[in-house]
Amino acid sequence: MIQGKWFPQGSDLSEALSIRRAVFDQGRDALDDLAQNVVVYQDDQPVAAGRLRWENGAFWLDWIGVLPACRGKKLGDLVLRLLLFKAQSHFAREVRLLCPRGTEGFFTRLGLRESASRGNSLELWIPGEEIDLDTCKACKKANCPNRVP
Ligand SMILES: CC(C)(COP(=O)(O)OP(=O)(O)OC[C@H]1O[C@@H](n2cnc3c(N)ncnc32)[C@H](O)[C@@H]1OP(=O)(O)O)[C@@H](O)C(=O)NCCC(=O)NCCS
Repeated sequence: MIQGKWFPQGSDLSEALSIRRAVFDQGRDALDDLAQNVVVYQDDQPVAAGRLRWENGAFWLDWIGVLPACRGKKLGDLVLRLLLFKAQSHFAREVRLLCPRGTEGFFTRLGLRESASRGNSLELWIPGEEIDLDTCKACKKANCPNRVP
């Protein structure tokens, strides 16, 4: 079973940090005290995580990572959608993130676009009112029972 769980400020972040360490070789930072982390579990094992924080009028996403053995199964997509949904539910004016060049396609699928180039990273953003998490729109399945006519 796949499940997502939020860890608000002040929570035990050990599971979120286990993913961060495995994917980015990075641990806790000062911004974790001000952030909410989300962890995705497969059969009760943490396999993916990401972080949401507020800074200078924007919600920022960081440390979106999936364990290498678990990639390609839409778990990263679930983390991104959970983060965007949380930002949307806080009436975000805009959502921003820095991503390594080459990974931007993962984010542009959901409407994020480039706002600046920063060395080997790109800054991407989306205005809050443009966040659209309707999974049916981009789906090519015909005759799906979930499709609203
Ligand atoms: C990027 C990452 C989070 C993707 O996670 P994942 O679980 O493998 O990706 P998903 O299976 O959810 O992919 C969802 C979609 O994004 C696409 N996608 C995945 N990684 C992509 C990439 N690097 N570039 C472009 N598109 C990508 C997939 O092809 C898939 O497309 P589809 O819906 O048309 O089939 C994962 O590869 C990772 O942890 N990378 C290392 C850390 C990193 O670079 N994080 C991002 C910046 S912080």
